Formats: sequence, C-alpha cells, structure tokens
Amino acid sequence: MAGVLLLVGVCAPPGVWEYDAAWAARHPTDHDAIARAVAPDIFSPPPLGVPLGGPAFNASFANPCWHEEGTRKLRCLPAFYLIGGFQCAVHDLGRRIALSADAVTPANMFHAFWSSGAGFGGDWGRFVRLMDKAVPRIQRQPRSALAFIANPAMLAFTWAEHARVHDSFARTVGACWKRCRKELQPSEVAELCKDKKYKLDHCLRLAYEQDPASAVGPAGVEFTLPQLMRRAHGANVKLVALLRNPADRLWSAFFSYGQFRGKYGDGEAGVAAYFAEQSAAFARCASRYDRRTCALRLESLGQAWQDIFYHCDQLIKSMYSVFVHEWQLAFGPARLLLVRSEEYMNVQTTGAALGKVLRFVGLPSDDAAVSALIAGRVKSGASRGTRATHARSWTMSVELRARIDAFYAPFNDHLAELSGDDAYRRWPVHMPATTPDGSPHR
Ligand SMILES: *[C@@H]1O[C@H](CO)[C@@H](O)[C@H](O)[C@H]1NC(C)=O
Repeated sequence: MAGVLLLVGVCAPPGVWEYDAAWAARHPTDHDAIARAVAPDIFSPPPLGVPLGGPAFNASFANPCWHEEGTRKLRCLPAFYLIGGFQCAVHDLGRRIALSADAVTPANMFHAFWSSGAGFGGDWGRFVRLMDKAVPRIQRQPRSALAFIANPAMLAFTWAEHARVHDSFARTVGACWKRCRKELQPSEVAELCKDKKYKLDHCLRLAYEQDPASAVGPAGVEFTLPQLMRRAHGANVKLVALLRNPADRLWSAFFSYGQFRGKYGDGEAGVAAYFAEQSAAFARCASRYDRRTCALRLESLGQAWQDIFYHCDQLIKSMYSVFVHEWQLAFGPARLLLVRSEEYMNVQTTGAALGKVLRFVGLPSDDAAVSALIAGRVKSGASRGTRATHARSWTMSVELRARIDAFYAPFNDHLAELSGDDAYRRWPVHMPATTPDGSPHR
C-alpha cells in the first residue's frame, strides 16, 4: 500500500493534451488559415483590416505606413517594439527613447494590444486608431519619424499573456464551465462535471479540440504571438528585448507582486521557499511533457497544472530562450536585437547599450544623441512604490543564487546558442542600483 501511495506521490499529474500525430491530424496546420481564424479583425478586408503578410508600405515614409484603400487616409504601424521583459528596465528604455526628436509614440506608449485578448486590448481597428496619434508627426517628418511601442509582456508570452492568440480557447473554456455549472450537459459529461477537479479538464480538452491556434504547422512550427504579428506586419518591423540575469529578474519579480510574499513569506526565505516549490512543480511538468511545452502552455495542460500557484508565471518569464526561439522562427534572428539589462543599467555602459538599440532601430545614434537621452529626465519605473526598491537582487545569498542559476543553466546555454553570444552562459550580475537616472532596477 505504501508503495502505491509513493508511486502516486512521485507521478506527474495527468494532463488533458497529448500532442501526438493523431491529435495533429485532426487540426489544420496552414498558418495563414490559422491567422485568419485567430484574428478576423486584423485580416478583414480593407479599409478596416490588412492583408496577410501586412500592407504594402509606402516607401516615402521611414515608418511603415500606407494609404488606406478608398479613404486614402494615412495609416501607420510601429516601426519597432520594445518587447520585454518585465523587471528588465524596459520602461526606462522606452521613456528615454521617446525623448529622441525622431521617435514618435502613440497615445499610450505602453499599449498592451498584442499581449491582451480583444476584450481587454481592443480589436485591430482600435489599435490602428491608437496609432493615428503618431501620424501627424510622421507626416511632418516622413523621412525620419519612427513610431514605437514598449510592451514588456510580449517577449515571454506565457499562456496568460497569449490571450489574443488563444481567445477561442478561453471562450470555449468559459462557456463549458458555465454549462457545467448549470448541468446542461449530456449525461456522460454531467457525470464528469460532478467531479470538481475533473470538470475543468473536460473543458480544457474541449478547448484544445476547437482552438485553431493549437495546431502544429509545417515543420513543427506552432502558431504563436510572433507568428500572428509576422502576418500583420510582414517583415517590416524591428524588435528589441532587454534580458536580465534570470535569477535577478526572478528575485525582483517576487518583490514586485504582493501575492508571492503573501504566500511564501518576505525576504530571502520567501524567495527560497517560492523557488523550491515552483521549480519542483515545473520539473514535474517538464518530465510529463517537455520544458518548451510547459513554458508555453502550463495552465492549459490540465486542472493539476492550473492548481500550481500563479502557474509558475514568474519562473517561466526568466526562461528567455524558449520565447526568443519563437520570435526568431517568425521574424528571423536579424529582426530581433537582444541586449543585456546589466549593460543598460550600469552607468559605465549605458551609452554603449543605448547606442546599439538606437542604431538597430534606425534612430540617431551619434554620441550627442545618446548623451542627450541619457541626460534626459524620465519618470522612474519605481515610482509605484513597490517593495522592489527595498529588496535588491544583489543581496541574494550565494547559495540561493547558485540554485537558481543551476535551474536556468539549460535555458541560458540555449540562449547563447540562439544568439551566438557566449556571455549568456556566465551571465554577469548587476551590482549597483543604477538605471541612467539612478533609479532602482525595475
Ligand atoms: C505614398 O505617399 C506619398 C506621400 O504622401 C503619396 O504622394 C503617394 O501617392 C503614396 N503612394 C501610394 C502608392 O499610395
């Protein structure tokens, strides 16, 4: 009996989704067809929508712009995005770039269109209208003005940040859950619904069967946020990611969101308890599926995985390589610039890091331009007054850091391979709390 219990204890919990040939055969794999099904608002006929592969941009403008069919109204998409990650100094970088005379921001520079479902982020028409705020400047400076958006949620699109792509999945689960509660199910399902734990598994399985974006395309490529964006923008967009040492980012995230201290306790002991539990849960998932599947879709895999506190969200957001790979697949490595946050946050090297970003996106990057942005006053990212300002990651003990580093080693090695930059294997730690304006590391 004890043996059986032990077996149950060590076995990974069941999932609802088996990614096998039979499952794949039941699902369409044409990425263009999937894009249309996932985002009919984006790929609708003009004037509201754009064709698959993006509009034909007008070469008179440095920014990707086109004249809308019929109305001839000038419409523009961002020329570049700062895609992430959180706690990596993206807000500081965005506010600083916005000081450039040639940078244009829409009404809300931090708009989360791509990382939110239509219910929260609005539809494509709303996004294009948001971009309209940048158009007058672009018309005045057609050869130089570049519009951009900074949305740190885009880089590591965990299941929760992937709502626009999996809207159908969320709708199916919501409707199924409601039916379950009203017990309007056929008798065999009503039986399943009685079991509270099984109830959601049943709905998740149904959602997987009906979600157009859960298919695997040719060559095993999944339909992800980068795949959707690639079809709306074509190749005419640049992406910049700031990546911070995974252990420091995790530490900072722990103190940025109250729920983690609430459950695991404050201070380093809290971080250690959090990391021990979450890394063990993730390892269970990875042995049941694989690291990539768990990083991309943890909470969709079944009630047992849903039950993990916050679905390992912060743990996963430091697994950069999983997501960088998807961005590179969709856009090609040359369209994605990776910069280490440590280089940006260290006042000795801020200028070099900023210059690299400005050159990549095509904004003025000479010494005078870089110095002006560094000297500019921007609102500190720490102004929300979170505890992150009190618990600095470099106070982490050597022991805890070593445990976290070991957990992320396979991801960092993979990132070194993807980027061709070996420094990711022995990622430097940023010591002093210095963004260019001396604000703490957010
Ligand atoms: C491109 O933009 C210029 C300047 O606004 C305009 O004169 C021209 O007609 C546009 N070309 C197309 C194909 O819309």
